[in-house]
Amino acid sequence: MDKVFYITTPIYYVNDVPHIGSAYTTLAADILSRYMKMRGRKVFFLTGTDENAPKVAEAARAKGESPLTYCDRMAEEFKKTWDYLDIQYDAFIRTTEKRHFEVVRQFLQKLKGRGYIYEGYYKGWYCIYDETYFREEEVQDGLCPNPECRRPLQRVQERGYFFKLSAFQEALLPFLNEDKRVLPDFRRREVINFVLGGLRDLYITRQRNDWGIPFPDDEQLQVYVWVDALINYLTAVGYLQDDELFSSLWPPDVQLMGKDILVRFHATLWPAMLLAMELPLPRLLFGHGFWTVQGEKMSKSKGNVVNPLTAIREIIRFSGCEESYAKDALRFYLFRSTPFGADGDFSYENLRACYNGDLANNLGNLLNRLTTMSTKYLDGEIPPPGYDYSTEVHSVLKSYQEAMEELAFHSAIASAFTLLDLANKHLDETAPWRLYKEGNIQAVRNSLGTAIELLRISAILLYPFLPSASREILSRLGFSSAPSFKEANWGLFTEERKGIKIKAGTPIFPRMEEVIKISNQEKEITIDDFAKVDLRVGKIVSCKVVEGAEKLYQMEVDLGELGKRRTIAGIAQYYTPSELIGKNIIFVANLAPAKIKGLISEGMILAVDAPGQVVIVTPEKEVPPGSKVR
Ligand code: MSP
Repeated sequence: MDKVFYITTPIYYVNDVPHIGSAYTTLAADILSRYMKMRGRKVFFLTGTDENAPKVAEAARAKGESPLTYCDRMAEEFKKTWDYLDIQYDAFIRTTEKRHFEVVRQFLQKLKGRGYIYEGYYKGWYCIYDETYFREEEVQDGLCPNPECRRPLQRVQERGYFFKLSAFQEALLPFLNEDKRVLPDFRRREVINFVLGGLRDLYITRQRNDWGIPFPDDEQLQVYVWVDALINYLTAVGYLQDDELFSSLWPPDVQLMGKDILVRFHATLWPAMLLAMELPLPRLLFGHGFWTVQGEKMSKSKGNVVNPLTAIREIIRFSGCEESYAKDALRFYLFRSTPFGADGDFSYENLRACYNGDLANNLGNLLNRLTTMSTKYLDGEIPPPGYDYSTEVHSVLKSYQEAMEELAFHSAIASAFTLLDLANKHLDETAPWRLYKEGNIQAVRNSLGTAIELLRISAILLYPFLPSASREILSRLGFSSAPSFKEANWGLFTEERKGIKIKAGTPIFPRMEEVIKISNQEKEITIDDFAKVDLRVGKIVSCKVVEGAEKLYQMEVDLGELGKRRTIAGIAQYYTPSELIGKNIIFVANLAPAKIKGLISEGMILAVDAPGQVVIVTPEKEVPPGSKVR
């Protein structure tokens, strides 16, 4: 029997809310997990939060909260975001859990028993942002040597414990030299160079904190957070707690992470810790690239951090597509636009081009054309294919599968899209609309049946990347069961399916308008900046759905002395018109007009953007329309 396929993401520090970067890794794990399940494998997908770090305690203090209360709140935030993004993880570990404390302490005791831990004196530096120790010779100017960080370091001179990392320099090489154990390959070479450069013993305790896991037998010290964090991958699958569970899952099949934590931590320290305990090493470590935003590194201080919820909201706002498909669209964009392993640059312009080109046009239009034609010419019949594309499909399945096995998600999507291109080309060449006019119904059936079959197979292949849209497409084509790779072969669409009719529906991916305003600015502003925003109380006087965009409302808002304004908002999923009419709301009165679905929107209603819902902001007491909000 196949081993359960064990996938991990890094556990995320809770000093910050989830963003497009952490979502990227977690989405990648979900894509792989859905693919493996579709192939019939049992999967265990682990994610979680890294909570024992000094910077987490610092973030809690800055908010005036106790570290644990703060971590409880933030861990929920991560779970909620992953749930909202349709990420189906199997387990969520928090490093403040009691079981993890136990496992870490026992692990260290065993390491010590094996002679890999010794007491000593440490003199060097610590970067609280990277949670990394640096040696004297690595630091020139008291600043973090990581070019991405360059922040002031803490001086450390203290007694503590070391892990004999240097003992593993040779032992790590066979693992690192093996093909496809560390991907992408150029990163594997980076790791090899790092290891060949010489490994020093690692300082694995700290004294400056009252937050963290007490070091066994020397309780006033805490365990260095990276050692504690890496052990999460063991704790979560029953190590030293449930042998049966552990042996069914260990070792991890794929461990995903960003390039930032591959070389030093996951490809060096981590396998060395496992070798020391004689535990099998992970089958594959994958270090993906980083996302920048319009060419710049994402950072809180720059205020350019992209929140995935905001990006989804923008997709809905400018396309009018349903929320579940907007989530798919974001996921798709992240993996379609950039090869997994390379760095990507996020921009709404690129997102829109990718959405319109691939989703609205190639995929969405094909579905719309096929449903319309089948309904019009064949009374909704889904005919079997009249042409044979089995060779093309066979070769696409092969390249898709190879790509997915190597996590080359971008190539896998490209393979699936060759089938959509074939279908579109087939329709253009056979022109069923002309055949229909000529009265050649059998030829119409042959043509439409062929294109439908190509669409059906692509929808299965695209399922990991477009989970909601793929299911919807398959269901419109009369398939309601969960997408399965076994069904992705040519000719499944046989006569037996006679009587099943194609389901018409609104476009899944309506075209996206130009995204006029990017609303992910979280930068500090001055009171003068704020005063530029003319916020007013308004009363909604009318509300109706925008034609052709059922998620959008067109509303008229009475602003008293400023008169009445029309505004377009994507809130039709959350409120009925009658709930809105007569409501007092807060309105941005001096926003530059924007064109949405061909209508001019003059201003904006304020709403709370919460996972899974949008909630309108209203003044707490009745006040006249036009009143200023400050
Ligand atoms: N807590 C450690 C990991 C411990 S794992 C045993 C940590 N946490 S983190 O919150 O900083 O998350 C790091 C991970 O988030 C990166 O490795 C990467 O997977 C993801 N990303 C964070 N920013 C990112 C981008 N800008 N782009 C892509 N991924 C990014 O390090």
